[in-house]
Amino acid sequence: MESGKRIKIAQLLKSEPGISTLVKGWVRTKRGNKNVAFVALNDGSTVNNIQIVFDMTRFTEEQLKPVTTGACIAVEGILTASPGGGQSVEISAEQLLVYGTADSDTYPLQKKGHSMEFLREIGHLRPRTNTFGCVFRIRHAMAFAIHKFFNDKGFFYLHTPIVTASDAEGAGAMFQVTTLDLNNIPRDENNKIDFTQDFFGRASNLTVSGQLEGELGAMALGEIYTFGPTFRAENSNTPRHLAEFWMIEPEMAFYEIKDNMDLAEEFIKYLVKYAIDNCSDDLKFLNDMFDKELLERLQSVVETDFVRLSYTEGVEILMNSGVKFEFPVYWGADLQSEHERYLVEKHFRRPVILTDYPKEIKAFYMKQNEDGKTVRAMDVLFPKIGEIIGGSQREESLEKLEARIEEMGMEKDGMWWYLDTRRFGTAPHSGFGLGFERLLLFVTGMSNIRDVIPFPRTPKNAEF
Ligand code: 4AD
Ligand code: MG
Repeated sequence: MESGKRIKIAQLLKSEPGISTLVKGWVRTKRGNKNVAFVALNDGSTVNNIQIVFDMTRFTEEQLKPVTTGACIAVEGILTASPGGGQSVEISAEQLLVYGTADSDTYPLQKKGHSMEFLREIGHLRPRTNTFGCVFRIRHAMAFAIHKFFNDKGFFYLHTPIVTASDAEGAGAMFQVTTLDLNNIPRDENNKIDFTQDFFGRASNLTVSGQLEGELGAMALGEIYTFGPTFRAENSNTPRHLAEFWMIEPEMAFYEIKDNMDLAEEFIKYLVKYAIDNCSDDLKFLNDMFDKELLERLQSVVETDFVRLSYTEGVEILMNSGVKFEFPVYWGADLQSEHERYLVEKHFRRPVILTDYPKEIKAFYMKQNEDGKTVRAMDVLFPKIGEIIGGSQREESLEKLEARIEEMGMEKDGMWWYLDTRRFGTAPHSGFGLGFERLLLFVTGMSNIRDVIPFPRTPKNAEF
């Protein structure tokens, strides 16, 4: 068999009958009788299988025996119009090659309908299921659409570091990076760890956000975005948190908070529409199998204006709702996902952008409002998810920023490079961070964030 002739199933299913072809893939099912065998083959290019028909006058039973669920085969044959329902073409097999067998007594994906929990335990094989095939193809499409959206707008993709000494959010919960011998840690005269002997000559960690470096880029290139992995060591075992997740962080010179909100709304709508237009087979599968309202929900987000209101107004609505929340609401409280989802799902029934949060519950870099109490933050809240985007206008005044850093008891010396943007040619600017996996939760309708990333990193889970 000539390997160059291989045609992917996604393309074959759109082709006219009559051509001779070579397909390669993994067997989903086999059925048949003494005269004919039908094999459903999948190669990952689409959720749809191609049917392969083996005329048993041309093949022996011995030849077909290793063709079991999970086995990998190559088949040469003629693409023919399919008389059966469900597919327009099938392959009438002429030659068969078995690359790899899959013992039916031990292959874990023998049957359909495994629980998501079980599939998480076999994370190395779950990409072979229809569900995860759909999710990972959609993940790819969304990553592509993100680059396309920003590229078409003239934003530049800026690569920010993964290892850094800076703690962007000032919120702790970082993974340390070191080459020091943990069994023999060097110490200085005060018995503190001597990081000057460490690889980078200082304490360093995995980044929690590319924002601060992104701001440096925006103050030179105008409009940039980052798209990379970020790491948070909080021990939160929820269906919406990962220890390693991907974040998209645009940062724009001369944008004020309203421009920032407009961009965030346009961006999410673009991505959801891109999925509807380009991932229809995968979305239809997920809609039919998991979440009958998925397609409707996606369409409605594209079509409706997001509600925009202040944190203060949001808290009033929650306090007057008469609902007993697990976490109490009052002005100053950090909103929990139950509060966010009440506003989105029950009260407004559409996405909400909440602005002007109390400064105490937000990061040091946010622009301070005249009232002295709130900052120009914006969180985009989504149905089923809660917070999907967090962002703000940034404080551009050196004086106010320094005062806030001191007020919060942060270490100012290590921030000299960041403060230089305010020292030299400062300007109003804004940005936000979209959690890539939170977006995927929304677009795929999956209910656990562990099921939208190929290899989830969560507490006690990092084997491969
Ligand atoms: O709200 P966050 O912490 O904001 C920042 O990191 C800013 N530096 C962003 C910016 O202004 N450039 O995180 C942004 C988003 C959240 O809204 C959420 O979607 C996602 O990142 N996120 C997580 N996703 C998965 N697992 C976690 N542990 C996450 N923490 C935040
Ligand atoms: Mg946030």
